[in-house]
Amino acid sequence: MEFLTINPKETALPQLHQYLLGSVGPRPICFASTIDADGRPNLAPFSFFNVVSANPPVLVFAPNNSGRDGSPKHTYLNVKEVPEVVVNVVTFGMVQQMNVAAAPWDKGISEFEKAGFTPVASDLIKPLRVKESPVQMECRVIEIKEFGTGGGAGNLVMAEVLKIHINKDFIGADGKIDQTKIDLVGRMGGSWYCRTTPDALFQLAQPMQATIGYDALPENIKNSQILSANDIGMLAALPAFPDADMVAKVQEKYRTENREETAKKLIAEGSVAEALALLMQ
Ligand SMILES: Cc1cc2nc3c(=O)[nH]c(=O)nc-3n(C[C@H](O)[C@H](O)[C@H](O)COP(=O)(O)O)c2cc1C
Repeated sequence: MEFLTINPKETALPQLHQYLLGSVGPRPICFASTIDADGRPNLAPFSFFNVVSANPPVLVFAPNNSGRDGSPKHTYLNVKEVPEVVVNVVTFGMVQQMNVAAAPWDKGISEFEKAGFTPVASDLIKPLRVKESPVQMECRVIEIKEFGTGGGAGNLVMAEVLKIHINKDFIGADGKIDQTKIDLVGRMGGSWYCRTTPDALFQLAQPMQATIGYDALPENIKNSQILSANDIGMLAALPAFPDADMVAKVQEKYRTENREETAKKLIAEGSVAEALALLMQ
């Protein structure tokens, strides 16, 4: 394994930009709706975006100075003039129009019109919502952190969510936003994007208590040539080692020469605790 090691200070901006954006991904996309002091609407996508707090609910996104000519984004200028923003999420069905909104339209030109999105009045703030977006969040800008003044410099906008509008078509029977239906898109390096169609999704429940841990696993498991890193990770995620009784029962049940192959199959079937019992020596 060989690594390319980069010193950001000695790397040309376009190349550094590619390394950063090609690695930090997929990034969610904030479709930010703002207005200027004259009340003219603006709409633009930003993938330097995330939710960073639930209590209070806070979103961050970064309309940065252009890497080409250093000019500020209209969205940045607008939130300085009117500290309000609607953050709309972006689905696959919206990407082509969203891309039109990302063109360098003159300040004051409405990307709602240019890209063909339907404006909807917000309840609490002046910027408009995007009707086609399944989730629209009305926000108040609480702080802007500028990281520099040159081309590519970041301007981090922190915004408190005041109201959330969710298209009920995307709410499942359990009352949650259906992750298999919403088809959010992510931005990756260059012009690459990804979708979240059901075939691309997987679930991984986060352990809510301490687990066995990788370091405590027996050497025969850690050194296995048959088990993958994910297989071993699943064994490490079990809450506890099986007791002697279970080990005896499982090893009696699967009388096999090749325990690792059988354990791998058990893990694939979801019988992870049995797999660990089989592998115990
Ligand atoms: C999917 C996508 C994500 C983008 N993310 C960012 C970003 O995070 N920060 C940024 O400054 N520009 C980003 N851009 C470019 C801006 O959307 C583009 O410069 C736009 O014209 C800015 O509009 P404005 O000047 O009306 O604010 C992105 C473009 C696309 C298509």
